[in-house]
Amino acid sequence: MAYIEVKHSTKRYGTGSNQILANHDVTFDIEKGELVVILGSSGAGKSTLLNILGGMDTNDEGQVMIDGMDIAQFSSHQRTNYRRDDVGFVFQFYNLVANLTAKENVELASEIVKDAMEPVQILQEVGLGDRLNNFPAQLSGGEQQRVAIARAVAKKPKILLCDEPTGALDYQTGKQVLQILQDMARKQGTTVIIVTHNTALALIADRIIHMRDATVQSVQLNPVPQDIATLEY
Ligand SMILES: Nc1ncnc2c1ncn2[C@@H]1O[C@H](COP(=O)(O)OP(=O)(O)OP(=O)(O)O)[C@@H](O)[C@H]1O
Ligand SMILES: [Mg+2]
Repeated sequence: MAYIEVKHSTKRYGTGSNQILANHDVTFDIEKGELVVILGSSGAGKSTLLNILGGMDTNDEGQVMIDGMDIAQFSSHQRTNYRRDDVGFVFQFYNLVANLTAKENVELASEIVKDAMEPVQILQEVGLGDRLNNFPAQLSGGEQQRVAIARAVAKKPKILLCDEPTGALDYQTGKQVLQILQDMARKQGTTVIIVTHNTALALIADRIIHMRDATVQSVQLNPVPQDIATLEY
């Protein structure tokens, strides 16, 4: 059995004639420790899928097996625990707490789970050892996104879900952030799923899931993912 197995998952928003099919009969597998890129145009259903995988939203039909458990059948209490203990999120606009320092933002995450990583150590790993006491407004976009990654990773999540993580960053800063995400998969064995519009990012992934009109159009395996350092996009 694969680490993640989504089977015939369907999600609708709204009711009656206003109903939108956001995910339709979505099926795919992901293995543990893979770096996965989900591609698709605006409205294709990528964020919907990511939110369902992370227990932030629920589907209407189908199975969402994570490490042998169907999270689609979870109670809201189980889903809260799953989100807290097993999932890290990275968003396009960082979502840091403005009146907490970089270190305090990461502590916020590490305080809520047992066996979390040490906030200072993880901030050092993302290259922010000398920015611990800066507030988000005193950091560049790329630095803020690295704090957000440190925060997500501090919990040692089983899966790290990233929705357009480089969408607000310039090219070089985006590459730094992608490098950290690729290292998370390679060195820590974290399963990293990145949603993006940028088709060039397919090259860095182990697996590429193409979405279109609420469905999975294709799944490609990439036996030799490209190193970020040599990526041009
Ligand atoms: N909470 C919601 N209520 C109603 N409709 C929604 C909701 N969330 C998403 N949708 C609709 O579901 C469809 C899929 O949306 P989704 O956000 O998953 O797309 P996406 O692929 O992430 O797009 P983008 O690249 O623009 O972020 C869209 O038609 C969207 O309008
Ligand atoms: Mg989206």
